[in-house]
Amino acid sequence: MQVSLEVNGSAHDVDVHPGERLSTVLRDRLELTGTKVSCGEGTCGSCTVVLDGRPVLSCLTLAAACHGASVRTVEWRGETLERLRDAFTAEDAFQCGFCTPGQLMSALALLERTPAPSRDEIVAAMSGNLCRCGAYEGIALAVARASGDAA
Ligand code: FES
Ligand code: FES
Repeated sequence: MQVSLEVNGSAHDVDVHPGERLSTVLRDRLELTGTKVSCGEGTCGSCTVVLDGRPVLSCLTLAAACHGASVRTVEWRGETLERLRDAFTAEDAFQCGFCTPGQLMSALALLERTPAPSRDEIVAAMSGNLCRCGAYEGIALAVARASGDAA
């Protein structure tokens, strides 16, 4: 089936299988490999992208359900995401970096709906993104820094 979607500002028409995941379309068809798939079953958050302004797990999202949607991935060059990238670097908010694309996209969705989140709001918004390296404190500080609340 044919699905039309906008990805990082560019229009795409993709012929997908009914059960095909958004993560597969992004990575294998559109070659946007910044989105990482780890668990593949909705528990780790590494595959998070922003779909029509909301963070979603692309490994659990059917591509066919995204017809007409706007998707942003870690390859997006928006100003808020650039600020988050700089803040993650400044706060050493990663070690191996595998979870980082998903962390960035959850943080982007948070800052777009809540530009100046409290510490509790940051922790709650990021709670679906696991980090095996345990960089949680740096991640929380980075999101605060990107919001203008530099530690
Ligand atoms: S890869 Fe999607 S939640 Fe883990
Ligand atoms: S930085 Fe390694 S999993 Fe988060």
